[in-house]
Amino acid sequence: NKKMTITSIQKTKGVRPLVMITAYDALFAKLFEPSSDMILVGDSLNMSFAGKNDTLSATMEQMLYHTNAVCNGAKNSFVVCDMPFGTYTNKEDALRNAIRVFQKTSADCVKIEGGADKAYIVEHLTSNGIAVCGHIGLLPQSVRSEGGYKVKGKSEKEKLKLIEDAKAIEKAGAFCMVIEGVKTDVATAIAKCVEVPVIGIGAGADVDGQVLVFSDMLGLFEEFTPKFVKKYMDGATLVKEAIKNYADEVSKREFPKEEHTY
Ligand code: KIV
Ligand code: NA
Repeated sequence: NKKMTITSIQKTKGVRPLVMITAYDALFAKLFEPSSDMILVGDSLNMSFAGKNDTLSATMEQMLYHTNAVCNGAKNSFVVCDMPFGTYTNKEDALRNAIRVFQKTSADCVKIEGGADKAYIVEHLTSNGIAVCGHIGLLPQSVRSEGGYKVKGKSEKEKLKLIEDAKAIEKAGAFCMVIEGVKTDVATAIAKCVEVPVIGIGAGADVDGQVLVFSDMLGLFEEFTPKFVKKYMDGATLVKEAIKNYADEVSKREFPKEEHTY
């Protein structure tokens, strides 16, 4: 399939839902490429791949390493690189770090968390030639300042705030946005009030696309499963069974057999 661009991504709005999935390496990115529109190198890799409790300690170096791997494995995919916590706290840092993404990888855009409060950053990046995917609603990088992962849009006040956030980053130039952990009716209303695609995770079916963390949807990540995750595969069981079979066969000298030897 042909590689998506910000133009072809935007043209899907109102036509068909976008399919986004995370990937952190070339191996999986290549497997996901045929069935996805966009691959997100999410800072969620800090949890599932680096084993940390949240995303906050992810670094630019980590993101650059994994984004390179994903771009190498999925040359025909539109690749989104998450800007990690603390790398876009002011315009200058944001631009310098986003430029590093473009210099060191072939990613197509960066993603930053935040709404109206981060619109000036989105504006600075987009006016300097960096395509930006926004991220509003539940912001994993704010887990400590929020005191946990909290679903948004539960009150009228939160709903109005989210609408303001979506409109502000659209106006600042974000070509699309992720909306995470938001009540379905509110997410639906937000997708209707902006012209750019709104890609949901834990935001119901009536938005402009869906994104899932691959290790969650393949059932590989066992620590916890958020309500919005559907496990399309019982990866953990499959992998553990395969390794156990291998171990048993090695123990009994049943592997390798004649056909595996020189
Ligand atoms: O880091 C990530 O995987 C993300 C998705 C949850 C959207 O930001
Ligand atoms: Na992220």
